[in-house]
Amino acid sequence: MFRPSRIEIDRAAIAHNIKELKSRIPQDIMAVVKANAYGHGAVEVANIALKNGATMLGVALLEEAIELRDAGIEAPILVMEAQFPQYAGIAAEQDITLSVFSAEWLKEATPYIEEKPLTVHVKVDTGMGRLGLRTREQLDALLEEAGDTFVIEGIYTHFATADELNSDLYYTQQERFERLMDGLHERFRYIHTSNSAGAIRMAGQDVPYNLVRVGIALYGLYPSKELETLYTFLRPAFVLKSQLMQVKLLEAGQTISYGATYTTTEDEWIGTVPVGYADGWLRKASGFEVEVGGIRCPIVGRVCMDRFMIRLPKEFPVGTDVTLVGGNIDIDELAAHLETINYEIVCQFTNRLPRHYV
Ligand SMILES: Cc1ncc(COP(=O)(O)O)c(C=O)c1O
Repeated sequence: MFRPSRIEIDRAAIAHNIKELKSRIPQDIMAVVKANAYGHGAVEVANIALKNGATMLGVALLEEAIELRDAGIEAPILVMEAQFPQYAGIAAEQDITLSVFSAEWLKEATPYIEEKPLTVHVKVDTGMGRLGLRTREQLDALLEEAGDTFVIEGIYTHFATADELNSDLYYTQQERFERLMDGLHERFRYIHTSNSAGAIRMAGQDVPYNLVRVGIALYGLYPSKELETLYTFLRPAFVLKSQLMQVKLLEAGQTISYGATYTTTEDEWIGTVPVGYADGWLRKASGFEVEVGGIRCPIVGRVCMDRFMIRLPKEFPVGTDVTLVGGNIDIDELAAHLETINYEIVCQFTNRLPRHYV
């Protein structure tokens, strides 16, 4: 790579986060590494998580699971997104666990499964309205259909509002799940309901669940502002850095970038930073600040496809480091500026930005 812009992933921070989670959470931990480990690099993060306390991996796509297998990872992997039944055999061959939610799916998948049975977790929709079966009748029909072709290893649900401390729906979903599970707890090796937010909220409680699915906390980020107080031990792992590629003094009255939305009002030092919206540094970041030499500098004018401009307080040499995310620039602050959440920020950076592991 010739460009100076890069994402730096702090391996030690991920190891720290998983160890801290492990010390607080009694259940087994599934490290959720879907979407390239929320932009952090799936294979790297999976290996760190497994070495430091996770026993299972969670992804969204069959492709993501196969990437981990191709990298030599042998730990159990759960695919959480629905898959078409014709790919069941591919999953079974590679010991990849799929999520299922209807007897019909099992019936349709059966002809595709040859020697090895397919391990599955049953997905229950208790209030997310997304994927999953909703009634005990549907669950009973699915269990009946399983035969020897499927190993029904787990059952799970997903909370819509675990990150909101005053949400009734969180408790309603737990009640619905327990009602559906009546008398069936022994039937499953794994029963799981919690993401990062739920995992830490349930940590001190006596619950009949033995696995949690932890994503955002693994990366050192909070599931929500409200949960910051429960999660003070986290260390963010994600840093985005670049370097100044041009520095120039512009006199008053000069315009910057497309649309000429910014005009200098006096002699101003302007630096060009080679990261743009094609890297996932969105146009909406105009007006946000980045850090140069420990000083916060405003982005002036519109962010372009490959670069943006900042106002510097003084002349800095070309090649000076610029921090876009990390250090004093918190992802949550950027998320607020972009009117989104930290999850979306870390997922949005494209592969044009190399990931360096430090
Ligand atoms: C089903 C499921 N479980 C767990 C997670 C992990 O959630 P979090 O990143 O909030 O820990 C996700 C992520 O969206 C998910 O879809």
